[in-house]
Amino acid sequence: MPMHSFSRSFVLSLVVAAGSSVCHAEPIAGRGELIEGTTLPVARFFPSHFTDKDAVASFALKRVFAKSRELPTNYTVKPLFEKLPDGKNRVRIEFPVGTSFYATGEVSGPLLRNGHTITLWNTDAYGYDISSPSLYQSHPWVLAVRPDGSAVGVLLDTTWRTVIALDGAMEFTSEGNAAPIYVVDRAKPEEVSTALMELTGNMPLPPKWAIGYHQCRYSYFPEARVREIAQNFRDRDIPCDVIWFDIDYMNGFRTFTVDPSHFPDPKKLNADLRGDGFSLIYMINPGIKREKGFFVADQLLEQGFEVKNSKGETFIGAVWPGNCVFPDYTSDKVRTWWSGLYKDFMAMGVDGVWNDMNEPAVFAVASKTMPEDNQHRGGMYSSGPGIEPVTVTPGDHARFHNVYGMLMAQGTYEGIKATNPTKRPFVLTRAGYLGSHRYAATWTGDNSANWFDLEHSVPMAINLGLSGQPFAGPDIGGFNGNGPGNAESRGKHFARWMGIGALLPFSRGHTGKGNIDKEPWSFGPEVERACKLALQRRYRLLPYFYTLFREASTTGVPVMRPVFFADPKDAALRSEDDSFLLGTDLLVIPQLMPDRTRTPIMPKGVWRKVELVGEANHPDLPELRVREGGIVPLGPIMEFSSEKPLDPLTLVVSLDTRGQATGTLYEDAGDGFGYQKGEYLLTTYQAKQEGDKITVSILKTEGQMARPARNVSVTVLRGDDQPALTGMGPDGQPVVVQVR
Ligand code: GLC
Repeated sequence: MPMHSFSRSFVLSLVVAAGSSVCHAEPIAGRGELIEGTTLPVARFFPSHFTDKDAVASFALKRVFAKSRELPTNYTVKPLFEKLPDGKNRVRIEFPVGTSFYATGEVSGPLLRNGHTITLWNTDAYGYDISSPSLYQSHPWVLAVRPDGSAVGVLLDTTWRTVIALDGAMEFTSEGNAAPIYVVDRAKPEEVSTALMELTGNMPLPPKWAIGYHQCRYSYFPEARVREIAQNFRDRDIPCDVIWFDIDYMNGFRTFTVDPSHFPDPKKLNADLRGDGFSLIYMINPGIKREKGFFVADQLLEQGFEVKNSKGETFIGAVWPGNCVFPDYTSDKVRTWWSGLYKDFMAMGVDGVWNDMNEPAVFAVASKTMPEDNQHRGGMYSSGPGIEPVTVTPGDHARFHNVYGMLMAQGTYEGIKATNPTKRPFVLTRAGYLGSHRYAATWTGDNSANWFDLEHSVPMAINLGLSGQPFAGPDIGGFNGNGPGNAESRGKHFARWMGIGALLPFSRGHTGKGNIDKEPWSFGPEVERACKLALQRRYRLLPYFYTLFREASTTGVPVMRPVFFADPKDAALRSEDDSFLLGTDLLVIPQLMPDRTRTPIMPKGVWRKVELVGEANHPDLPELRVREGGIVPLGPIMEFSSEKPLDPLTLVVSLDTRGQATGTLYEDAGDGFGYQKGEYLLTTYQAKQEGDKITVSILKTEGQMARPARNVSVTVLRGDDQPALTGMGPDGQPVVVQVR
């Protein structure tokens, strides 16, 4: 059954129009149409050589989009398609000189992608650098910002290996079946983000604890070490919400098992840690040890649910436990079985799951993955509840490689949700594809503890956000290696990475096996203080972060944004990738590299410096500035996200030239799904100066949650060297600040 909504006669007419051969010497324009179901028009183009055989289920789109009407004849974006002699499909789109390219998913290097070429092929890219052609994820999606600030997003709806070249024009060259492309043409970049969400689905709102700080390493064990880490955070008053269990918790690396010698009573350990305000995340990998008597392998093989080789035999590849078999997640039956495995596992007191090695990574082979002619069975695919399933035809691994990790994460997400239906699932996945934000957050894999990867961690997370994955961040401190130079520079490197990592959407410290300790206190008191301030800032900002996550989940506009979002017409901002915006109102200006004092390129207007935790001018912490006209909500310093109520609520006000400012605050229970039934509170606060009085009051509210009885503390920022004005009063009533 073809999955795209074009008629057979339409396809035939295209083939006929192309002549007797489907090979074209010259690129020719495809046939375009508009699709239904998006707020503003989205165009779809089919290559002229597209035939019925090419129509396969989409894994990027959240559902099938029918044609709504013909493409207007004055549509300006004109893709040119070509079938290459080697069978590959090429599509090329020209843009005006001065167009800036972004997104393309998980890419190392600068934010601006002009001049870069990448290959979408999920790869276990340990210790990658900017020359690595492929990392762990594949997003066949490019954002182009024209010189006038208008923006175009292009989605090539293929899962096959694809090369994206951004050398002047935008060019996709893909293997496998010919694929349609979707074109979003909008007045500004954030509207493209919203359209991408309409096409690929929403990020579910994460549980609030997942927006806190996470502490990981490869690996914390035995149990006593885990307790020691947790205790240190609490004893030292360093905020942390989550402790992670990397593979060594497993029994011989068998997925869904626990090593009884290191963790004799995981249930009690988890309960104790939860009592201290921690959530617990455990790793689950797709490589299942091939061993008779191991229940996961037995169930997998007895049901014939494993990936097969080209001869139809069980495929065997080596990963951590030695020889492994691999679930074939392209089948809905396999995903359902996989989901079911989480019931007993979660009952141990697990809050979230980390899916790793799901490119899938295979050891001891040059390709680092399974053979491309391995066979997948397919089945039915639905991107989520209530979405009409489509048929996935069987096929080679080459076609499914890039979605293997996403489908695993989906099975995991659904399993966790079924186990704890009243909790919001949290999954972290290493491999991903355009659309994996529907099921999982991500991190940027095995980066290195050097200055370059620290610097690039910022644009990497921005580009992931621009590719529809707002919940992303690096291994803070770097995974591979101990850090640059001597003990002192390693400490500096770690402090700076924590300074910036604490302000990224996903904030987790992690390091590889055998490396030195990399907890916030591991580098002595000075670095510990920097880390503590960095994390206290994150916790003060949690109300703002949570509001931004809610916005990302409802509008698709990322939590972390490039500075050019503030003024897309300003060409000077297009390549700024040290600084970034959180939402519209908070500008983060880090000094990432040790010996460089570069002046960041600031968006126009007044951005007032704000200090959150007494960190004034700390050399390792990014500067924070609030946009004129913005209000940023803050909470108290906390050790974990549910430790204290939001009282007082602090509103940091930065008035514009008219003496006005507005800002929003989203609140709900922090977990569960009551918010979907209206149990939330979305408040827009407004500040207005009249004469020598600034009044802060509620402009509007949405949602049915009762306003908590609490105080509002107002801080009105002025010049960088002038002390802020302050005021206090009960929430719900105007707070008046006297201008002195
Ligand atoms: C992979 C992951 C890394 C993890 C390690 C051991 O390298 O990317 O984060 O620590 O495996 O599980």
